[in-house]
Amino acid sequence: MKTSTSKLTYLKDYKAPAFTITTTKLTFVLDPVKTHVQAELAFKKLDASVRDLVLDGEELELVSVKLNGKTLIKHKDYCCDDAHLTIFNTPKAFTLTTEVIINPQANSTCSGLYLSGGIFCTQNEPHGFRRITYFLDRPDVLSKFTTTIRADARLYQKLLANGNLIKQRKLRNQQLEAVWEDPFKKPCYLFALVAGNLGCLSSHHTTPSKRKIKLKIYTTPSRIHEAKWAMQCLKKAMCWDEKEFNLECDLDLYQIVAVDDFNFGAMENKGLNIFNSRVLLASKDTATDADWLNIASVVAHEYFHNWTGNRVTLRDWFQIGLKEGLTTLREQLFMEDHYGPAYRIDSASFIKEVQFKEDAGPLAHPAQLDAYLEINNFYTATVYEKSAEIFRMVVTLAGRQGFSKILQQFLKRFDGQAATIEDFWAVAATALGPEAKQLEAWYHQVGTIRLAAEAKLETSGALKVSLKQLPPVLHPAVKTASSKPMLLLVALTVTPYHKTFLLKLTKDHEVFTIQGCYQSLPTINYLHDFSAPVILLNSLTHDELIKVAIQAKAPVDKYLALLELVKIAMTSDSGALVMAFKTYLEHAALTLLPWLLNMPAASALALALDKDLLSTDAKLRQLKELIGKKLSNLWLNVFQHTTTDVYRHSYRAIQLRRVNAIALDYLLAAKHPEAAKLAEHKFLHSNNLASSFSVLSSLVYWHHPLAKTLLDQVAPKWQHNEALTYKWLALKGASLKANDEASWQAVLTSKMFSWHNPNKVLALWRNFCGQNLVEFHDASGQGYARLTEAVVKLEAINPQVGALLAAPLTNTKGLSDAAKKQLSSCWKRILETNNLSNNVREIIAKACNK
Ligand code: ARG
Ligand code: ZN
Repeated sequence: MKTSTSKLTYLKDYKAPAFTITTTKLTFVLDPVKTHVQAELAFKKLDASVRDLVLDGEELELVSVKLNGKTLIKHKDYCCDDAHLTIFNTPKAFTLTTEVIINPQANSTCSGLYLSGGIFCTQNEPHGFRRITYFLDRPDVLSKFTTTIRADARLYQKLLANGNLIKQRKLRNQQLEAVWEDPFKKPCYLFALVAGNLGCLSSHHTTPSKRKIKLKIYTTPSRIHEAKWAMQCLKKAMCWDEKEFNLECDLDLYQIVAVDDFNFGAMENKGLNIFNSRVLLASKDTATDADWLNIASVVAHEYFHNWTGNRVTLRDWFQIGLKEGLTTLREQLFMEDHYGPAYRIDSASFIKEVQFKEDAGPLAHPAQLDAYLEINNFYTATVYEKSAEIFRMVVTLAGRQGFSKILQQFLKRFDGQAATIEDFWAVAATALGPEAKQLEAWYHQVGTIRLAAEAKLETSGALKVSLKQLPPVLHPAVKTASSKPMLLLVALTVTPYHKTFLLKLTKDHEVFTIQGCYQSLPTINYLHDFSAPVILLNSLTHDELIKVAIQAKAPVDKYLALLELVKIAMTSDSGALVMAFKTYLEHAALTLLPWLLNMPAASALALALDKDLLSTDAKLRQLKELIGKKLSNLWLNVFQHTTTDVYRHSYRAIQLRRVNAIALDYLLAAKHPEAAKLAEHKFLHSNNLASSFSVLSSLVYWHHPLAKTLLDQVAPKWQHNEALTYKWLALKGASLKANDEASWQAVLTSKMFSWHNPNKVLALWRNFCGQNLVEFHDASGQGYARLTEAVVKLEAINPQVGALLAAPLTNTKGLSDAAKKQLSSCWKRILETNNLSNNVREIIAKACNK
């Protein structure tokens, strides 16, 4: 069945569509198991030499096909298999009307039309629409959509689709009908439909040109009071886009719906975003502080897509980095503008912790792919965050205003069209000249480039800075593309850090002169503002690093220097690190503190140090214990000063809670005699989830016996709240023992868990693999075996999430030979699965280099 689709798709094979669709009229008669979808599509032939029209379709039961009103006959006029509907000998322009039946309730993939807690909803990017009706399911076919929805009014009071509601009426038999018209042409991946009994939060926004836009957020009525924060964030994002880029919302109505079963964070469907409730709804009792901030960034991200993604969309799926890179960068800048420059640490650390790891593993790929088996596997850190870093280089070169102009020109030039990454660089080139072309090469480059930097003082008082770029170290399973030198933007600041110099390295090696009359060699802080996503092979001494970590102006520069000190402390002397921590604790601003005190993950350190994962994890714990002990009075002091009974939701209050949590974590690390008592007291008296969850995470991380007691204690309360079940499962994943069969069974069969909810599956398993390293990598191989069985089970239910689960099985770097052997039998087991999805097959095949 899957043979027809198990071929690679290549960028070089792109062909413009032979047909296009000008108008799409859809009629849905909703029913959980038998939904009728009628599609009336106006086609125009673009390539006269093509006779047959081939439409995409999956899991559809075809009822009828009509061409210009005349019923077509199977085999004579058309044929149909499990992936396509082919209409023979089509005229130049015609209307095709198909009727299909689909079964949303049986659809467990969270792609296409499906049910989440009794709510009908859709997810169509990249290829969900073909599970709804026969269509040209590709982003370069744009049409105007009109959507009619009919459903039982008692069960589905709200019937929503993209655009404006132009008609709503009650029909006979308790049926409700709504007709929606989207004024903007769009590809089908941006189509959305929602139906259910939903609560609604309404508001509005007035644009600078005085247009009043209605804003509505919907979700299940019992949680609608948790939508207020998202609404505030939406308005902030709208104002920011108006101010920064002169971009107004182009709609009269902007709607967001939250559902519980969703494969990732959210989707930017035109005028009707659909969100995972996990990244939209928040109350003090159900969301951590990280959740609140995450909601702000995702709401902004989806809103920004309205221009970068929707008004200008993609030619094909090799261009995802265009919309995701631009939108992620816009989201990052928005967060930095709202919460201060320390927020840059968030994006820089994500690149270093997640994207560099991807780059060094078997799944490494360029920000623009040249081939894929399953495009769903490539909504990755490289495609999102590395692309954002590449576009950020334009900001570095052109400045914020210059970038704003370039983006506006690009949007104007390609408005209403499907564009490519190259199109963006062509526009950028008009402003930046040939440098734009050189930056574009970053999109094709695989792995993380390394930069070696060194400076000398000339007798004249000038500085000579030598910069060398070295090719990435790739995983053996990744084919080596010969890497040519890139345009590497190296921003540097020089003590006392008032001045920034931007060096543009275009060759393998180059020496730059910085004029000046320096008396002695100053301390140079390379990669100021993380000006390029590269590994800096550091040449600074402990003293220099400490200087940068404490004196640098940009928070991210402090953070990057601190990371170097952590690396040094892991392998030799921890004195400088402890001293930096001490200085921060005594002097740093509250807005900086949580960022700076946050230690990197063991996996990122293992990679950076090229060390074995488990011993790195052990070493990191020892280091934290040492910092805990050396500064225990300070931690205690900070803990007491940041403890409060009052719950507030300002950014300041969030940062205070973060610092309070870190202080307690170090007290637990140090096994301070007061620690357990303080933790228990904090937990029992907490009036918000952020505080109680942080206590539980620390207890779990430090394997404290209180962890289990408290987790058991909250279970009966938490199980009734969807958001809290995710938290509970995350903590369970981080604490279960690989060989404790009974406890695993208890979790997997508990009411809290379900294989059908991606949040639950990922909370449990991702935390098991990522937070519970010792157990996941247990010598028995039991941890791997459990994940393998989970992948096999899940991939039959939801292949996209199955592939996400499989990823931790693929990277063997830093593991023992025994572990490698165990993993390769897991791969074998998975590859032998009947009807294995392309999603999981591609991930595992890359790991075995097949
Ligand atoms: N376009 C969505 C966003 O970034 C995410 C789509 C992810 N799709 C996927 N198949 N993983 O906002
Ligand atoms: Zn996006």
